[in-house]
Amino acid sequence: MKIAILPGDGIGPEIVAQAVKVLNVLGESFEMETAPVGGAGYEASGHPLPDATLKLAKEADAVLFGAVGDWKYDTLERPLRPEQAILGLRKNLGLFGNLRPAILYPELANASTLKPEIVSGLDILIVRELTGDIYFGQPRGVRECPDGPFKGQREGFDTMRYAEGEIRRIAHVAFQAAQKRDKRLTSVDKANVLETFQFWKDIVTDVHKEYPDVALDHMYVDNAAMQLVRAPKKFDVIVTGNMFGDILSDAAAMLTGSIGMLPSASLDANNKGLYEPSHGSAPDIAGKGIANPLATILSAAMMLRYSLNKQEQANRIENAVKKVLAQGLRTVDIYEEGTTKVGTEEMGNAVVKALA
Ligand code: NAI
Ligand code: MG
Repeated sequence: MKIAILPGDGIGPEIVAQAVKVLNVLGESFEMETAPVGGAGYEASGHPLPDATLKLAKEADAVLFGAVGDWKYDTLERPLRPEQAILGLRKNLGLFGNLRPAILYPELANASTLKPEIVSGLDILIVRELTGDIYFGQPRGVRECPDGPFKGQREGFDTMRYAEGEIRRIAHVAFQAAQKRDKRLTSVDKANVLETFQFWKDIVTDVHKEYPDVALDHMYVDNAAMQLVRAPKKFDVIVTGNMFGDILSDAAAMLTGSIGMLPSASLDANNKGLYEPSHGSAPDIAGKGIANPLATILSAAMMLRYSLNKQEQANRIENAVKKVLAQGLRTVDIYEEGTTKVGTEEMGNAVVKALA
């Protein structure tokens, strides 16, 4: 199995190095090949997504991505900015299914803004469709308002749309993810108001016939937002469209209060995927050796679970992370009094040791 390793810029190389160390001690024979991306791609070849990097990502079974977007590239024109690399990879690899777990380890219960009894032990997964919805629907623009009380004024407009096949494929991703967890799926829509999301609800209900072992329920997005802050632990897997998923996944991430702990996956129709921490390149702490590598290490665990079909090894990594937290080791982003502050390398080494 071939893994493309794309560290990126900023803290990317520091945190990815720790995840690679962890993958190396699992006793599996992965073929890992590294290539520059983002700012590092620009330095190497004048483009954030060099052809050779894209080629490697395409031929690999999975991509482990660090982060991109160091401030020193802010003055470049938009097509050369590091962030273009991630958009280019999503598009070229056909990655439409974004999996974002929100996990709050009991040891970090104080990191959340919610009361510990509401969030401690939270472990939910948001599956967000990435390529459709009102974000990409045509037509869109600013035009002369054709009717109503504002007729003749300018109006902004966008188009919400989802093709049947687009809904089916994200529903399959979500049901299959639910099968690997607690077998409960909540489809979030606004079927009471939007035709697109009544259609969404009907298609998800139809796909459910192929997954009788998963319990499906439907919830309106406004209610889902309320439930996420009222009783988030009642959810297992949530599936929703691009816009609702954008908002709900950020809200769910903040429930955990610890940006350095959250992994993510972006999948295509064949479970090939790109795995990366949810945070960015953290230019403010790059090169200082203090970044939290756990989101990246947990992204590697997701890669084993969803793309490489190594559930056992994924569990081993996740348990090792729990162990180092239980030992009281903390990087600066999750530090609190009474725990032991460690740097990026020390944290990586501790996970490696916990795996042994
Ligand atoms: P950020 O996530 O990079 O940083 C936000 C804050 O969290 C900073 O104070 C940072 O030091 C801290 N932080 C982030 N990750 C951490 C870690 N692993 N350990 C400890 N502390 C951590 O978000 P920000 O500052 O909005 O963006 C910085 C750059 O990253 C921008 O250029 C942005 O475009 C880019 N970015 C890239 C992403 C990607 O590569 N997929 C995603 C999000 C942002
Ligand atoms: Mg967002």
